[in-house]
Amino acid sequence: MSTTTRTRPSDGLWFGKDLSQSEPIPDAAIEQAVALMRSGRLHRYGEQAAGTPEPSLLEQEYATYVGAKYCVAVNSCGAAMFLALKALGIKPGDKVLTSSFTLAPVPGAIAHACASAVLVETRDDYATDLADLERKAASSGARVFLLSHMRGHITDLRAVRSICDRHNIALVEDCAHTMGARWDGQHTGTFGRIGCYSSQTYKHINSGEGGLLVTDDDDVAAQVILMSGCYMMYEQHVLRPSAEVFERWRYVTPNFSMRMSNLAAALLRPQIALLPERGERWRRIYDDLARAFARAPKLTLPVRDAREDFVPSSIQFSLDLSPEQIEFFLTECAARGLYVKWFGLRVPTAFTSHFGHWHYLPEQEPMPNSKQILSQLLDLRTPLSLTPEDCRLIGQIVTVAAAAATAHPAGEQQKDRT
Ligand SMILES: Cc1ncc(COP(=O)(O)O)c(C=O)c1O
Repeated sequence: MSTTTRTRPSDGLWFGKDLSQSEPIPDAAIEQAVALMRSGRLHRYGEQAAGTPEPSLLEQEYATYVGAKYCVAVNSCGAAMFLALKALGIKPGDKVLTSSFTLAPVPGAIAHACASAVLVETRDDYATDLADLERKAASSGARVFLLSHMRGHITDLRAVRSICDRHNIALVEDCAHTMGARWDGQHTGTFGRIGCYSSQTYKHINSGEGGLLVTDDDDVAAQVILMSGCYMMYEQHVLRPSAEVFERWRYVTPNFSMRMSNLAAALLRPQIALLPERGERWRRIYDDLARAFARAPKLTLPVRDAREDFVPSSIQFSLDLSPEQIEFFLTECAARGLYVKWFGLRVPTAFTSHFGHWHYLPEQEPMPNSKQILSQLLDLRTPLSLTPEDCRLIGQIVTVAAAAATAHPAGEQQKDRT
């Protein structure tokens, strides 16, 4: 959607900043990347004189950061989730439970493993519905739950863990939106068998593309190292299971070539130390925006659990309006240079998708709550460059646009139809 389709509004409320602008890469990372390019050593494995490759160091540093035994660096979070399913023994046709509020790479990873996704309902606070999880854990026959902490909304992870344990289901966490976030003091990604993270440009650390997988499980770690494409040079991983574990897997595990390059790891390493500071800055922006939205009619923010230590690189809110009114709201925001996204769009657009768009999924039970929530769910990126003044201005624009949309006759037409 263009943000400059109309002339600027007469009330002077104009934002116009690019919300998809990422933080610059730290100088230390740039210097290391340049040195690597000069050396020509961009592949993580070397047959001779390998040294300690950057991804091995990154794996060590990230595992220490989250408190996991192993970390394997791969080329995307989508790849990490696919490898997680393969390492847990998912076979074609197996059922995999997953969150209905998530992004396309999550059902994509399940489809990549030729498995069959069973979607779990979404709660009013945008987190995964544990009552529906319990029901489907008992009835679906699934052996894995790929839980997506979509847009950073974290459900009660201790309760999830106990549901999964009761039904003998392996928990895999999609932490693409929760790197640095904790539930009840513990890092997301460490509650189940496997945690998967992304370092794609719009995430908490940025190497353009990239993923990290963490686990405490020796067999999972060995398989993922082999599957990610180590060409049997697994001894170049600082964090690795014993030779006996690799012996169990080396002849029966395919190479899917999903490694991380030296260059991507060099870009990421100095960013790990920045996660706590970035997390605080994102929370400040979230709080500023939440305050600035307080007077917007029909707008609600989700209630966050005190145990949820979230790292919001975006903000979501619901507008209790008809689809036509929400379209009007988006147009009003766009006319003021503010790019807001909507999960209720009929067609898949940019990074906003809806389970109804994934026609390759097997037939699902109706999901009335997820459908209702997504139809009124709005989404705004919150780059770290946002100042308190920016947040106030965004709040003013959202308030004016929500008031205009509330007064828009499409709301009355909608009511007449229902
Ligand atoms: C919720 C969610 N999970 C997983 C992914 C996959 O991440 P990647 O792009 O690194 O494959 C994304 C990507 O944006 C995402 O939004």
